[in-house]
Amino acid sequence: SSSFPIGKSAQEKGLSYVPDCYVVPPPQRSNLTPETTNVPVVDLAGLHDPGERSHIIKDIGSASRGLGFFQIINHGVCQSVLDGALSSAFDFFNLPMEKKLEFMSNDVHKPVRYGTSLKDGIDKVQFWRIFLKHYAHPLKDWVELWPKSPANYRENMGKYATEVRKLALELTTAITESLGIGPTYLNNKMEEGMQVMAINCYPACPKPELALGLPPHSDYSCFTILLQSSQGLEIMDRNDGTWRAVPELDSALQVHVGDHLEVLSNGLYKSVVHRAALNTEKTRISIASLHSLGMDEKMETAKELIDEQHPKNYKGSSFRDFLNFLSANDIAEGKSFIQTLN
Ligand code: SIN
Ligand code: FE2
Repeated sequence: SSSFPIGKSAQEKGLSYVPDCYVVPPPQRSNLTPETTNVPVVDLAGLHDPGERSHIIKDIGSASRGLGFFQIINHGVCQSVLDGALSSAFDFFNLPMEKKLEFMSNDVHKPVRYGTSLKDGIDKVQFWRIFLKHYAHPLKDWVELWPKSPANYRENMGKYATEVRKLALELTTAITESLGIGPTYLNNKMEEGMQVMAINCYPACPKPELALGLPPHSDYSCFTILLQSSQGLEIMDRNDGTWRAVPELDSALQVHVGDHLEVLSNGLYKSVVHRAALNTEKTRISIASLHSLGMDEKMETAKELIDEQHPKNYKGSSFRDFLNFLSANDIAEGKSFIQTLN
C-alpha cells in the first residue's frame, strides 16, 4: 500500500521530508560523487570507416566484457532529436494527473503503461520515480496508443524512437562482431525484434541519500540505450561490487549490456547491474530504450561460444517469458530473471 503516492504529488513542490515508505536500508543507499569515477567512452564516428571499425569493435568488446557498460559519442542521433524527446517527456510528466492516470496500470503486459515506483502498492520500499513505458517498434503499430498530449509527444518521441532503433541495429552488428560471431549474426532476429521505451521521471528529493529512484537491477534486453537529462545513473563494478556514478557527458548516450547478451555470449559479456540515484536540485528524466528479439523468440547461447571449456551455461528465454516472471515476482528484491544451467 503506498501511503504517499508520489505520482500524485511529484509536481507539488515543497515536500521537505522523505516519507518512511521510501527510505531504503543504509547499506543500499547512494552517496557517490561522479567526479571520482570514470567509465569507458566509445566514439562511434568511424564505425563505417574500414580503417577504424576494428578499433571501435575492440573498444565495444572490452567495455562489454568489463563493466558491461559504456557511453557512446558521435552516435548519429542529432541533438535536436535528443532535446525534443526529453522536452516532450518533461511536458508529459507535467500534465495534470487525470491525463496520466488514463495510462495507469500494474499489468506488465500492457503495451502502454504509466506508474510509480516499480510496482506501485506492491513494492516493500517505494522508489522515487514516475514512469511511462511503451512499445515503440514497429512504430506505426504502437504510436496511436501513446499519449495524445502534450501535443508534440508522438512526433518527438517517435522521431527519437526511430533514430535510436537505427542506432541499435548498428550496435547489434558491432556487438556480435566483437563476440567473434560476425556482424550479421542477429540481424534478422533484431529486425523483427522489440523496442520498449521506459520514460522515467525522478523528482528532486529533499534527502536523496535516503531513497532511490530505481533499485539495483539488470535490464531484460539485448542491450539498452539510455538518454538522460542530467546525471544520476550508477553502475556496479562486478569485479569488486563497488558502485560507480556515471559522469555527465554532453550529447552522449549510455549503453547497458542486458541479460540477453549475457545469454548469447555464454557469460562472456555480463549484464550490468545499475540503479538510479536522486538529487535535491532538479527533476531528472531518463529515457531507456530496450532492444531485444521478438516477443516469443527465445534468445539462446551462440553455439560458436560453447565448447568443452565453456559449456552452455544459460537457459534460453523470450521477452514473454520475462514478462510472465515479472508479473509473478518482486524484482526489487534483486531477483534476476536469467537462469543458468550449472
Ligand atoms: C533504468 O534503469 O531503466 C533507468 C536508469 C536511469 O534512470 O538512469
Ligand atoms: Fe534499467
